[in-house]
Amino acid sequence: MILHGIVQKGKQRGKALGFPTANIPLTQNIGDGIYMSLVMLDSKKYPSLTFIGIAETFDDTERSAEVYLLDFDKDIYGKRIEVELLKKLRENKKFESTSALVKQMKDDTMEAREYFKFDIRNKIKIQMTKK
Ligand SMILES: Cc1cc2nc3c(=O)[nH]c(=O)nc-3n(C[C@H](O)[C@H](O)[C@H](O)COP(=O)(O)O)c2cc1C
Repeated sequence: MILHGIVQKGKQRGKALGFPTANIPLTQNIGDGIYMSLVMLDSKKYPSLTFIGIAETFDDTERSAEVYLLDFDKDIYGKRIEVELLKKLRENKKFESTSALVKQMKDDTMEAREYFKFDIRNKIKIQMTKK
């Protein structure tokens, strides 16, 4: 499944949480959840995690697609990206606190690193720094 769109400014909470996300309009019919994904930006591929759903932890009411790029700190607002969903990692969940969500996102990131290390061994050419 591939999503694409122009990166928009979200509610800017992600940055404060340490997980800035690129928000893109959700036009396709995709199941909620957190996915391992690859972002195609300016002809390069970047490992990422994509959240699809309603951020219920913050009592949001609208579904959104938010992409967190690993080891990436450039401003990409207004850029067109393609997001390929590779594998579902887990279901969307309402957490009791922001810190519980952040802890889960850190675990998600660790799982993604393992997953993409595996992909690198299989010679999928992606941009990733060593951590
Ligand atoms: C890897 C990842 C996992 C996420 N998991 C959840 C989740 O389980 N529950 C939830 O309410 N929000 C989840 N979110 C969404 C965050 O709540 C959201 O990115 C944050 O509130 C920032 O929103 P903003 O970009 O609109 O500022 C996740 C986001 C990412 C990047």
